[in-house]
Amino acid sequence: MHILDIAQNSIAAGATEINIIIREDSSEDSFIIEIEDNGRGMPRDILNAVLDPFVTTRTTRRVGLGLPLLCQAARACDGDVTVDSEERKGTRVVAWFRRSHWDRAPLGDIASTLMALVACNPSVDIRYEHLIDGGSFRFDTRDLRRKLGDIPLSNPLVAGFVKDYVEEGENNLRGE
Ligand SMILES: Nc1ncnc2c1ncn2[C@@H]1O[C@H](COP(=O)(O)OP(=O)(O)OP(=O)(O)O)[C@@H](O)[C@H]1O
Ligand SMILES: [Mg+2]
Repeated sequence: MHILDIAQNSIAAGATEINIIIREDSSEDSFIIEIEDNGRGMPRDILNAVLDPFVTTRTTRRVGLGLPLLCQAARACDGDVTVDSEERKGTRVVAWFRRSHWDRAPLGDIASTLMALVACNPSVDIRYEHLIDGGSFRFDTRDLRRKLGDIPLSNPLVAGFVKDYVEEGENNLRGE
């Protein structure tokens, strides 16, 4: 849910490319989530205060919770969050956790997360990479677009394909 939430910020910022990278390292006991986009970025005053729940450019309510909640989760697991952003260039959010921490949430249903992101934002390019120690799994809508030819990413059959493909890749990565 955190990943979906942060990627949603990228979409709201007009991003056409989103990179999601998960790095797990058992020897360093680290679990790192990186989400970077080429959206409009943030002015310095927002950036400086973005981990504070009372900062938002939303007009529907006065608190923004996506980044503060991620920050709270990371800090509860001996980690933290950094946000780098440059106006008109993009934004990068990095959250790290102690991998073995009791309170560290599992990655969760990343296949459904990616499926939802792709299906709801068919014109955005999404790249996902999951690295665990030496192994990795990668999914990129650019490869998918090439394979699909004229079929758009919004085609309902594509959603099922994305989910199955990511599920299989993640299972292989975990050696299941
Ligand atoms: N990737 C991004 N690109 C540009 N601006 C961003 C990005 N992520 C966050 N922001 C800015 O930071 C503010 C706070 O983000 P946050 O996710 O914490 O709350 P929100 O998106 O406003 O509300 P919520 O996530 O609760 O729906 C946003 O309103 C937006 O102005
Ligand atoms: Mg948000």
